[in-house]
Amino acid sequence: MKKIYLDNAATTPLDERVLEAMLPYYKSSFGNASSVHSFGREAKVLLEDARDAVAEFIGAKPAEIHFTSGGTESNNFALKGIAFAHLGRKNHIISDAIEHSAVIDTLEYLRNRFGFSITYLNTNKFGEISLDDLKNSLTEETFLVSVMHSNNELGIINDLTGISELTNNRGILLHTDSVQSIGKTSFDVCELNCNTATLSAHKIYGPKGIGALYIRRDTLIDKFIHGGKQERDRRGGTENIAAISGFKKAIEILGTDMSSDIEKYKLLKQKLIGLLRDNFGDKVIINEASESNSLDNIVNISFDSAKVNFDPETLLIKIDLKGIAVSSGSACTSGSIQPSHVLKAIGYDDNMAKASLRISFGRFNEANDVDILVDTLKEIIN
Ligand SMILES: Cc1ncc(COP(=O)(O)O)c(C=O)c1O
Repeated sequence: MKKIYLDNAATTPLDERVLEAMLPYYKSSFGNASSVHSFGREAKVLLEDARDAVAEFIGAKPAEIHFTSGGTESNNFALKGIAFAHLGRKNHIISDAIEHSAVIDTLEYLRNRFGFSITYLNTNKFGEISLDDLKNSLTEETFLVSVMHSNNELGIINDLTGISELTNNRGILLHTDSVQSIGKTSFDVCELNCNTATLSAHKIYGPKGIGALYIRRDTLIDKFIHGGKQERDRRGGTENIAAISGFKKAIEILGTDMSSDIEKYKLLKQKLIGLLRDNFGDKVIINEASESNSLDNIVNISFDSAKVNFDPETLLIKIDLKGIAVSSGSACTSGSIQPSHVLKAIGYDDNMAKASLRISFGRFNEANDVDILVDTLKEIIN
């Protein structure tokens, strides 16, 4: 049975070119970037070249890029780092109900352990937050707004420019989780005017366990990992040079392949939505506001449980048994197949949320993968 991978928002396969770029750093070039000898200097050169590449890709300065172990750590770094730097000064943070757990869990920790007050903005049924709601939630105590650039389940792209217009002239810091946006839509920290932004390599055909946090030069933020003076004395620990070389290569490949990647995602998405509408009519709901503010690689659908007769609890498993990998929510919660907090936040009940699927395309998918998925859904659902 040919296996089909349509869960690229959870993680992407490693691009062969990335693997090739990493291998020397596991073999001959194994130095510690802090060592003064030639082995160390070689690692240091790679480290700074990678910093330059990531910075250039998102419109930042190299000194503003801090390598981390991935998206989860970068979100922790930004939120805890900024909150601790404001402890005893200001106490209010605003976020929204459909953030990734790496943001929500961290904010809940800051609330429960340190007494920060957190407001979660509700979204409309497409996952969009209202700028008016945000404006009305700002108080004298607000020092941080954290809104993801795009959502990992729905693909909705937030109006970060509109948000930063509200935060910047009030001296409020803006963090954005941009894990899903990198390589899928344009993302430039200067245009967006954010203070911190989260990146993760394994969503862009790079290795797992490596990511970055962009920290704008003037941002008030505490050191995150104590120990050595690495990463501008903010994140101690020997740098994972091999993974960083993979991250660098993955970013460089985006420099050349991103537009063709996006063209592919668009075609696959159009084809999937067309086939779903042809085959399931009003039994299927496409959870998307409009093409223009959604990522092209993510399609989130729900089957209307009032109109189709199937067991939503076993939908994902049945699809998996046919060799197709899709997701019913974020990867972190789908292991236990809990209804997704994102779908519940946009107004779905448990049944409808469980009858939902996230299909996410990647660089290595083919048009035929979509045909096979739709044929499989027809078999299971009709
Ligand atoms: C929006 C978002 N933020 C953060 C993360 C966590 O990133 P990582 O897996 O690199 O820790 C993910 C991964 O699923 C994500 O989709």
